[in-house]
Amino acid sequence: MIDQVSLTNFKAFRSADIRLAPVTLLTGLNSSGKSTVLQSFALLRQSYDSGTLLSTDGDSDERGGFLLDGDLVELGTGQDLLHEDFVRGETETDPLITVGLRTEGGQVYTWSARYAPEQDVLPLARVVLPSDLPELWAQAPLFSRRFQYLKADRIVPATSYPRSHHQAIGRGFLGSRGEHTVNFLRYHAQDIVPDGSLRHPEARAHTFLDQVVAWMQELCPGVNLEATEIPGTDSVQLSYGFGGTAGLDSSSRRRPTNVGFGLTYALPIVVACLTAAPGSLILLENPEAHLHPRGQARMAALIAAAAAAGAQLIVETHSDHVLDGTRLAVKQGRLKASDTAIHYFRGNGAGVEIVTPVVGEDGTLSEWPEGFFDETDHTLDQLLD
Ligand SMILES: Nc1ncnc2c1ncn2[C@@H]1O[C@H](COP(=O)(O)OP(=O)(O)OP(=O)(O)O)[C@@H](O)[C@H]1O
Ligand SMILES: [Mg+2]
Repeated sequence: MIDQVSLTNFKAFRSADIRLAPVTLLTGLNSSGKSTVLQSFALLRQSYDSGTLLSTDGDSDERGGFLLDGDLVELGTGQDLLHEDFVRGETETDPLITVGLRTEGGQVYTWSARYAPEQDVLPLARVVLPSDLPELWAQAPLFSRRFQYLKADRIVPATSYPRSHHQAIGRGFLGSRGEHTVNFLRYHAQDIVPDGSLRHPEARAHTFLDQVVAWMQELCPGVNLEATEIPGTDSVQLSYGFGGTAGLDSSSRRRPTNVGFGLTYALPIVVACLTAAPGSLILLENPEAHLHPRGQARMAALIAAAAAAGAQLIVETHSDHVLDGTRLAVKQGRLKASDTAIHYFRGNGAGVEIVTPVVGEDGTLSEWPEGFFDETDHTLDQLLD
């Protein structure tokens, strides 16, 4: 598990150390740096995928570096990435942009890239890795098949979705917009979800599809899904049925465009959580998007279940239901209090201030900063006044 991410000169952050846990919630005002934290992981991953993250050798043209524009994130060029009020190193003339990770075992990985305003690949100036890296490297969840990153902007209801064997099956990746989810679901429908926290008690069977259906029924009772190929094309399709069990005859099935928006939008979140395994790293932006309040709370239950299955989840959220659902998971013993980290980000004019309320065993929070999910109380006060 990664227990801390450190960012220097990285977009909204001049310098920040952010503690991470099996379930980390990044909350706070709009434009306060939450997605930026997730983007730092995505930047490392896409740079790694391009084969350049390790290399500090060679001519500057050939040298590895941070790949700013890739499949996962499009960060622009160096001048977009460099924090506007950057800190200078003591030895370098150019500022460095640094992402550091610390693992539970105390191992530290640090990548520092040299600033170049117009470039979209920033050459690595310094890399610090644990000495036994070669074995660890290949196993690190961030660089393996056990990585998922779902952005706020995800797939919407459509008549077809891509069928990329390389992404969905080869890499096991749902896509940063969840665009490979339907193909992943089609391919893995009959896999067995291992015994444990992720198995839904109401599911018809232990297969991946039945488990996805059971969790989707938390959002919409009675719904079921099918993911099938469209013969003769490079596409797959999703269909929904209502009021029965999976596998209803096709005449009573509905295409996603004729079903509400929220189900399709939430599907990648449900599938990503159900891929959780020991050592998985799952980054989610706004799992609550387009869901009714109870559904948002149930997404928190699923996130807790994924953590209990051994995954690490870092979740950006604006939902008090996701927060409360996480606290409830602690209170009910489904998630350890010490396995949570809740951060409240707020811009203070000069940068990002991070307040970290601690969850107690009974689900209470050690502090309730001004502006932290207090709008319901404020509104109620006015209504009752
Ligand atoms: N190079 C930079 N230097 C300083 N600040 C930057 C830089 N690039 C972006 N920012 C700031 O980062 C913030 C955007 O952060 P981010 O996208 O992480 O927000 P967020 O907390 O995820 O917001 P939302 O809740 O709307 O998703 C903005 O305030 C923007 O001004
Ligand atoms: Mg964001």
